[in-house]
Amino acid sequence: MISQRMQDAMNQQIQHETFSAYLYFSMAAYFHSKGLDGMAHWMKAQAQEEFGHALRFFNHINERGGRIELYALDQPDHEWNSPRDAFNAALKHEQFITGKINDLAKLADDENDRAAGIMLQWFIEEQVEEEDSVNKVLDLLNIAGEQGPGLLMADRELEQRVPGAILPPGETI
Ligand code: FEO
Repeated sequence: MISQRMQDAMNQQIQHETFSAYLYFSMAAYFHSKGLDGMAHWMKAQAQEEFGHALRFFNHINERGGRIELYALDQPDHEWNSPRDAFNAALKHEQFITGKINDLAKLADDENDRAAGIMLQWFIEEQVEEEDSVNKVLDLLNIAGEQGPGLLMADRELEQRVPGAILPPGETI
């Protein structure tokens, strides 16, 4: 059985992960409005992954006899100064999420909650990947530039992203 504290903290993480999806959908809409469909595609793939993250916490609470409670979402920003500005905001957001995952891992240690600890190990590794993938886009924008053919090339490159599975093999909605 999951503890009340862990249940509350994971319910809050469902909110953070779902807000992440909402934020990246908003960034996708911004990129579409600028004619940057490749970057919009990258953000939609990212939003889909975030929904999968929320679902993992949802399933974990449920499988351990807890009660899921969905909290209200804030309205995400919808305008940025440039593609770099949007991806910088995405990086800052991922750093915030990394902090939240670390807080959950600390709580699992404090409560000697091994089941949560094992589940959170996946998220600790995932956050390394999440920050790295945004950093790679920022590197690409630095190299290609944010105008003319360079920006078009970066946009085409990001169009190649293949969305990952929402949940791992064997796990169902
Ligand atoms: Fe689910 Fe991008 O953190």
